[in-house]
Amino acid sequence: MPKLVVVNRDGEESSIEVGDGLTIMEAIRDNGFDELLALCGGCCSCATCHVHVDAAFADKLPAMSEDEDDLLESSDHRADNSRLSCQLPFTAELDGLKVTIAPED
Ligand code: FES
Repeated sequence: MPKLVVVNRDGEESSIEVGDGLTIMEAIRDNGFDELLALCGGCCSCATCHVHVDAAFADKLPAMSEDEDDLLESSDHRADNSRLSCQLPFTAELDGLKVTIAPED
């Protein structure tokens, strides 16, 4: 199974295996990272699934929607590589991707 590397807010890295059809948010949440609140359950209305994505994978990610862009704008921790992880399906192409859970707003 493809692997996703998750860096938590303490800077600790873990590698998790991700099954088919999950978003990055679901993969992180299902592996017990309770820092990623994902309060809206993935319907792009809370921004509590904010992550910073390894820039090397930027061109492999789906384009950002206007809603995602607006929500990220409300975060004090927005960076060039910010994404909402519920908007990112994890595909085999993303094997080895590293994401860092953004600081809490
Ligand atoms: S889980 Fe709410 S915006 Fe991603």
